[in-house]
Amino acid sequence: MKKNKISKNWINRQKRDIYVRQSKIEGFKSRAVYKLKEIDEKFKIFKGINSVVDLGAAPGSWSQYAATKIKSEKILSIDLLKFEKIKNSHQIIGDFTDEAHKIEIKKYFGKKIDLIISDMAVNTIGNKDVDSIVTGELCLEGMDFALEVLKGNGKFVSKIFMGSSFNEIVYKAKKKFRDVRVFKPLASRKNSKETFIICSFLR
Ligand SMILES: C[S@@+](CC[C@H](N)C(=O)[O-])C[C@H]1O[C@@H](n2cnc3c(N)ncnc32)[C@H](O)[C@@H]1O
Repeated sequence: MKKNKISKNWINRQKRDIYVRQSKIEGFKSRAVYKLKEIDEKFKIFKGINSVVDLGAAPGSWSQYAATKIKSEKILSIDLLKFEKIKNSHQIIGDFTDEAHKIEIKKYFGKKIDLIISDMAVNTIGNKDVDSIVTGELCLEGMDFALEVLKGNGKFVSKIFMGSSFNEIVYKAKKKFRDVRVFKPLASRKNSKETFIICSFLR
């Protein structure tokens, strides 16, 4: 399909999408917020939480949601892309996989963290199989970081794609966390291979 036809389809789909409309009414930066909201309603991921890292945060709706859920302590949002600063959140613009940024995150909190949420994904306009592999690698990198910085009862929530790395990610998660769930929110488009992994309590 030609590029301008793809963008026309994308614009038409956005206009029809109830989650897009709802996010505009409620003042959220993106429809992605409703995926996190569903995950939270089902798994209570923000219960008792005081510190959150949002990986792949732009344009910022997950961080906005986190800010409505935690009043005290800290939220840190990082993305490769520049995005408007989210109220009550510390922002880093840069590649999460850079060691320097991981050190910066650890320094910012100065202690173990309650929750890491990751919606990191590469641009899915390209080759879907390659995108899914790279997004799987981002998830694994996020999980390794979570294993290093989470409190014993901490949680790691991440986007993953059904695809070649899915089994590896679930296998590793089950080895490292006591409770692992896979959940596709209604707000996640049916034709997308995207789903989410919710990991709690380090082993
Ligand atoms: C689906 S969007 C996130 C939407 C966001 N959760 C929200 O609610 O607004 C995925 C984001 O992951 C970011 N990303 C991909 N690779 C990254 C990396 N290595 N480090 C930081 N961010 C990354 C992309 O720039 C993109 O903005």
